[in-house]
Amino acid sequence: MTIDYLYHLGLDSGMNLQGMFGDVRLVIMGGSKERALMIARQLTTDNTTLPKPIGRTDRYHIYKVGSCLSVSHGMGAPSISILLHELYKLLFVYAKTEAEFVRIGTSGGIGIEPGTVVITTESVNERNEAKQDLCILGRLVSRPTYLSPELIDKLYNISTSLAIPCRKGKTMSCNDFYESQARMDGAICNYTKEDREEYLNRLAGYGVLNIEMEGVAFAAFCFEKKIKCCMITTVLLNRLNGDQVKAELSMIGALQVLLRYVEESMTRSKEDH
Ligand code: URA
Repeated sequence: MTIDYLYHLGLDSGMNLQGMFGDVRLVIMGGSKERALMIARQLTTDNTTLPKPIGRTDRYHIYKVGSCLSVSHGMGAPSISILLHELYKLLFVYAKTEAEFVRIGTSGGIGIEPGTVVITTESVNERNEAKQDLCILGRLVSRPTYLSPELIDKLYNISTSLAIPCRKGKTMSCNDFYESQARMDGAICNYTKEDREEYLNRLAGYGVLNIEMEGVAFAAFCFEKKIKCCMITTVLLNRLNGDQVKAELSMIGALQVLLRYVEESMTRSKEDH
């Protein structure tokens, strides 16, 4: 390959990627471009200029603020997986840096009240297995999921110190928002209210605290590439009480914890120099 096109990012290896990204130490990933911008704005000390995305913006938005990237990953495993492949090559191969990855988002709680922050200790698939099943060359490939205990503890300690309601535990990742998450408000629903309740209670019995859509792909990729990573989400609703997400409850709790983490890591890295 003379030039490697990181197609979905609109960047390529012919650019000075080391000059542009060589100082990146932390990547924060959230679902939408609005969240990526909002996080970038929170990270910047310059309130006069709006952060500008780097590269193509039809799929993902990447903002750089000092040594942090704020990136949108879209919805679901396929979307985050494409981003992870290209971001890994961008940072670890071409920019020759090493960064921690943190996914911040929202989730549906199982017996957990809206607004609570969940820090994931184990990311499981829809069968309660801590692995991602992929089909590669027509064959099943299973990859373990991994989240860094060190980062989990740091984020949990911060949330305790800020008195933000927070739980540590298992998160289930689904490949769909409706049927896989046992919702009854999608366009297709071939199960009963009793089936739904039995399933959600079974998840609670497995120790699942919340459900989202990207954790397994994220944690399996990071395991494979040995990237330090963690996931923090704010619960939007308690699924034991219903299915409908009425309004976008802000990620405020998770964001406060993450911003404090960024502040502490930046201070630490300045002291190390
Ligand atoms: N994200 C999900 O995937 N599910 C929810 O219930 C809420 C947010």
